[in-house]
Amino acid sequence: MAEVTFDAVTKRYGDVTAVDRLEMAIPDGELLVLLGPSGCGKTTALRMVAGLEELSEGDITIGNRVVNDVDPKERDVAMVFQSYALYPHLTVAKNVEFPLRQRGMDKAEREKRVLEVARTLGLDDLLDRKPAQLSGGQRQRVALARAIVRDPQVFLMDEPLSNLDATLRVQTRADIVALQHRLGTTTIYVTHDQVEAMTMGNRIAVMDRGVLQQVAPPQDLYDRPANTFVAAFLGSPGMNLLDGELDGTSVRVAGGSIELAEAVPGRDVGASPVTVGVRPEHLRLDAAGTVAATVRLVEMLGAETHVICRLEDGAQLVVRQEAVVERPALGANVRVAVESQSVHVFGADGTRLEGSTR
Ligand SMILES: Nc1ncnc2c1ncn2[C@@H]1O[C@H](COP(=O)(O)OP(=O)(O)OP(=O)(O)O)[C@@H](O)[C@H]1O
Ligand SMILES: [Mg+2]
Repeated sequence: MAEVTFDAVTKRYGDVTAVDRLEMAIPDGELLVLLGPSGCGKTTALRMVAGLEELSEGDITIGNRVVNDVDPKERDVAMVFQSYALYPHLTVAKNVEFPLRQRGMDKAEREKRVLEVARTLGLDDLLDRKPAQLSGGQRQRVALARAIVRDPQVFLMDEPLSNLDATLRVQTRADIVALQHRLGTTTIYVTHDQVEAMTMGNRIAVMDRGVLQQVAPPQDLYDRPANTFVAAFLGSPGMNLLDGELDGTSVRVAGGSIELAEAVPGRDVGASPVTVGVRPEHLRLDAAGTVAATVRLVEMLGAETHVICRLEDGAQLVVRQEAVVERPALGANVRVAVESQSVHVFGADGTRLEGSTR
């Protein structure tokens, strides 16, 4: 087990900066989720830890050792890929055993370890099968087994669940969390699925275009996003972001105004342009609401309802309600009430203005 650190790590491919001065420390035993849209540099960051990609600049350390020039085999990390990368001609047992053989471990010890790991992951009955005779979920468990059998210092997982159907994904992600917790092995888990990130990580690191945006525990990230990118990326539906003008404790927006619980420090004199953010669950349709809107679409999802509205300037506002007492008609003019305790305010450059929410 070991701490992993990125110290000003940069990776360039010609003109493309895939990872841009990444600065982050992952303490021993943590499950860190690396989250971000396609192409933001997640896989590149992981491959640099594994030693499959050279750094352009900076240092990566594993357990206090700078590993920039250390051979992948010597790094003591195990990587699990989206495409399971199993050997098709080998049985499950032989696939799992493979890294132990490479290490020259003796036969009796190998068999013992394979059985232990197979039991942990519920693969006992499948040991004699070939990968082609397994379901996707079973194959993924074999890939996990092959990673953990080596008892590495660090696990690197690159979207390992993306080929599984929704039910299996939920099940397997719980299995991975439990397993990681039991083994206590430092893990970097890459995904672009924010629900996966919210449910799995001790902390989540959000990246966009190679740049780390914020790293924090899931709830902190949700409650206090550092900028509009993180605010919009987490949550489903995402946070509503509206152009506005902040004046004291009130933000003027198209069709009305949004009141803040308290003034934003440093922005309490004169009006200034801001982006105001409110999560759909902090809005409700209410005749006494302070923002006028028109109903564009009503999505009934069973336990909750999303009312998609439009403001007079064309901006969209999604209201999320537990259940609709009365389904609003399409095209109806409504008023939206905002929970003033839960309003986020971002400056012109998209950065959160401190003090804008609890
Ligand atoms: N070998 C390469 N040569 C040139 N550019 C590359 C190479 N590998 C990655 N890139 C570029 O680096 C950027 C980051 O890619 P990366 O694969 O790390 O993204 P990602 O976050 O893993 O995306 P996804 O969610 O789609 O897997 C992208 O713009 C990609 O096109
Ligand atoms: Mg990737």
